[in-house]
This record gives sequence, structure tokens and C-alpha cells, in this order.
Amino acid sequence: MTKKTPDTLRSARWFAPDDLRSFGHRSRMMQLGYAEEDFRDRPIIGVLNTWSELNTCHSHFRERVQDVKRGVAQAGGFAVEMPSLSVDESFTKPTSMLYRNLLAMETEEMIRSHPLDGVVLMGGCDKTTPGLVMGAISAGVPMIYLPAGPMLRGNYAGKILGSGSDAWKYWDERRAGNITDEEWLGVQGGIARSAGTCMTMGTASTMTAIADAMGLTLPGASSIPAVDSGHIRMSADCGRRITEMVWEDLTPDQIITEAACRNAAVVAMATGCSTNAVVHLIAMARRAGVNLTLDDLDALGRTTPLIANVRPSGKDYLMEDFYYAGGLRALMKQIEAQLDTSCLTVTGKTLGENLEGAQVYNDDVIRPLSNPVYKEGSLAVLRGNLCPDGAVIKPAACDPKYYQHEGPALVFDSYPEMKAAVDDEDLEITPDTVMVLRNAGPQGGPGFPEWGMLPIPKALIKQGHRDMLRISDARMSGTSYGACVLHVAPESYVGGPLALLKTGDIVRLDLDARRLDMLVSDAELAERRAAWKAPEPRFERGYGVMFSRHVSQADQGCDFDFLQSDYGRPTGEPDI
Ligand code: FES
Ligand code: MG
Repeated sequence: MTKKTPDTLRSARWFAPDDLRSFGHRSRMMQLGYAEEDFRDRPIIGVLNTWSELNTCHSHFRERVQDVKRGVAQAGGFAVEMPSLSVDESFTKPTSMLYRNLLAMETEEMIRSHPLDGVVLMGGCDKTTPGLVMGAISAGVPMIYLPAGPMLRGNYAGKILGSGSDAWKYWDERRAGNITDEEWLGVQGGIARSAGTCMTMGTASTMTAIADAMGLTLPGASSIPAVDSGHIRMSADCGRRITEMVWEDLTPDQIITEAACRNAAVVAMATGCSTNAVVHLIAMARRAGVNLTLDDLDALGRTTPLIANVRPSGKDYLMEDFYYAGGLRALMKQIEAQLDTSCLTVTGKTLGENLEGAQVYNDDVIRPLSNPVYKEGSLAVLRGNLCPDGAVIKPAACDPKYYQHEGPALVFDSYPEMKAAVDDEDLEITPDTVMVLRNAGPQGGPGFPEWGMLPIPKALIKQGHRDMLRISDARMSGTSYGACVLHVAPESYVGGPLALLKTGDIVRLDLDARRLDMLVSDAELAERRAAWKAPEPRFERGYGVMFSRHVSQADQGCDFDFLQSDYGRPTGEPDI
């Protein structure tokens, strides 16, 4: 299997020549206290660590990086930790999505500009998985993804709490006056109680499952809880394996093929994935030169049953239960017939070989195909005169009575305007009203914030309603639920038809036909279009300017145009 020799290692270009530059590189390694034998003729492994004290989901990465380094050293490599932009979901304003591409750029350039032969990517909190993977695909050196793992189940007063989902639920009860302040504080202290990512099937668990299904992690690594000792062992394994991958020259282009991207999409659908998966999966695939489209995802969704009974799409369980039930390998085993098991993975073996012996230990958590949570996959793609380039809905996470729905629109142009209205107890609204928020897309948000699960107006909450049809050009958290149409493209801020909708217009959703329309005549729409004025740019300086000029729309994955693999001449290796 060995394809690389010490002479042909990428890092040898920095360290091997008998010239002044390489003298400089070697002497600077010696400045760090290393002898030449420590780093010469060995794979140099960059460990890209998205640890930060404000990334609550990655708080164990400080220790785990030592385990990765231990593994690399055992296999004869030399590991260097490289801190990377820690895009955290909890605190980043206006939204972490604004910075996914910045992490991708940083990852690509850090790899390209340094003497690295391979990388271990340490991520997990929502945007870190796609950001790291997108950048590493473009850099092209062997890589392995180390998922942070989900946190333990939440717990308060003997009740199990799920990230995100239960926060929303208890918030609605608090607004309805059904729980005390003491209970509310108890939930606050119990809902996130260990290192690790959100333990519902939110964006983090979805994206790490996608990386796993693509063959980018050690088999089943995405399911191991962050604080399980198995996670420590998996980290050391990543170090050992990446070192071998360098000698084997097992580069990402051999792993991330069209078939691997389709496998990832099928697995995402079967897990009850976050709607965000659509945007990130398209962006990751495109970096690998695979043109995965919304229509491909809708088609795969129609033929893939949702079999992971994990909240919010499933009813009862969380990621910890999913792991005990056999984890992602067991889930993939159930749907093996729908996967291309010949795909190569980071193990150097095929996906099929990695799944050998995988078993389900609890078939209420990982359901058999004969008893799915939902007969189709978790996402559906809509089109119509409101969303000519597509919109996304998660049917499994909303009340089926909304699958066919017609009602008057109540339109808000900004989040503060909407927030004031939902808190107004006298708001004129009926249960069939369709609440709409616009100017919340990639450009308008700015950065495509997770505002799409618009809060149910107090006026309806008090009447006992907990769901209603909502439409926006925003995203929503993977831990959210409800009848929310998201990612309307093109977004209103750039003049998509959502910009033309008026309060009182009738909106119709027909899920079976995958249609979303406003019942407004073409002549009337043309008139409104002529009167529409483009808003001012959101940014006049800084990173935001680059973001606004180069980001693509939701259906294209929101990558920057100049980072697409087919944009311009290949960058190539640095001249040294
Ligand atoms: Fe990090 Fe949810 S906040 S995964
Ligand atoms: Mg999230």
C-alpha cells in the first residue's frame, strides 16, 4: 500500500534540501526543542483544533489533542497542533453561518502554506464540520475527521432534556405561565451538562454523521459521546491512522466521490437530519467537484425511511441512546441496500467492510425498515412562485395537518418587527395564518441566521396552539421543529419573489406536490416587482463585504464563488 517515501513527502520540500531556506526551517524546528530525527523523513500531521473557551461543545479538545498526538507518534509521525477558528454556535453573532466559509478558507490556507503531509480535523459544533471539511477538500492532503461527539443527555428533576428542542418547549410553557421560575432555572442548569455537541439530532450530530457516512471519520466515530473513554481511544486511533494514510497517499478526492456524497445524503435522511444539512452537504460536495442538487436530495428523501428515533424528528431518544443502540454503523447496516458500499473510506477499506458485524441493540431507537419513524426521509424540497430556486421543510417534525394548507400571510420585514408582534397578546391572528419573515437569508440576515422557527404568537399560545405554518428565507436550528418552510431561494434581500408578498395574500402549501405558492396574479406580481427597490448593502467594511459580494444562495450551498473548485486556475503548491 505504501506509495509515499520519505523523499516524496510534501514536508520534505521544506526540510530536506541542502539550501538556505531549508536550513532556516530545520533550525526553527530545533528552536522548538526537536532534534532532526524527530521531524525528518516522517509524516508531519497538522492537528487542526477548533478549541476555544467560548466553544462549549469542544471543551474536551484540549485533552483530546494530546491523544491524537500520542497516536501520531506511535505510528512514527510527527504531530503539530494548529489552533483554528473556533466557530461556536452558542455565542457567535449575528450567526455562526457567517463564519463557516471563513473557517473553510483558513483551513485551506493553513494546510497549503505549511509543511503538512496530512491533517486531523477536530470539530463538531455545527459549522465546524463543513468548514473544516470544505477547506481540507480544497487543500487536498490526506485528512481524517475527529468528531467532538455528543454531550450526555440533559437532566432536570428526573426528566430527560434534549438540546434546543426542550429549551423551546419549556420557553413556550413559561410564556403560557405553566412553569415556575425555579423550574425554568432547573432546566437552564440541566440542559447542557457535559462537554460535547448538542445531543439531539441537530446540525452537529447530522453533520458529523454525514462526515462518517462519507468515509471521513473512523467507522462510527460520530456516535461516541464526547466524555466516553471510547472517545479518547478513537482520538488516538485517528493519530495512528492518519500517519498511515500519508504513506498510502489516501487523499480526499479518492474518498469524496459522487457515490460517497449520495451515501451521506441517504444517511442524513435516515437519521432525521437537520435542514442545515442540505446547505452544508451541497457545499461540501461541490468542493469535491460533485454537483449534488436540491432535487437529488428530495429524490433521495422520498425513497429513504427515517429510522433513527432521535429527537426532534423522532419522539423519544437522544444521541447517547443512539450510541448504546449501536450508533451510526448499526443505522447504516439497516439501510445497506440503499448505500454504495464499495466507497473507499479513511480506513483504506470500503464502507461495506467497515459495516461488517454492525448490529442494532435496541430496535426502538434504531428502527427496522418495517417500522420506520417516518416513511420517507426527513426533508422535502418545495418549489413554486414563492421559491423558484427551492425551499426546504422537515415534514417529520411538523403536524401533518399542515401538509396541505392555505391561509393569509402575515409578513414581517425584520426580526425585531416580528418579535414585537408575537409578544402582542392582542395581535389579530388565526391558527391558519401563515407567518412570514423575510430579509433573513444569506445576504439579508446577514449570514443566514437560524430564525426560521418563528415563535408562535402569544395570542395563539394562550389559546393552546403550539404550531402554525411559518415561512422564511432563514435557516433554523437542527434542534427545532414545527411547520417551518426555510431557505426560500432566491432570498428576498436580493429580490426573490418572497420580497413581493404582502400581508393578507393567500399562501398555499401542497407538500405532496412539493409546491409553495402565493395566490397572486402574474400581472399583480409584475407591478409589485417594478415598484421593488433593492435595499442598501449590509456591510461597508471588513469580512462582511467579502461575504456579501461572494456568497451563493441557499440552493447552491452558500459557498463563496471564488472557493468553488472550478473557479479560476488551480492555486497549486507554494513556490519555495
Ligand atoms: Fe455546539 Fe449545538 S451549540 S453543537
Ligand atoms: Mg444548532
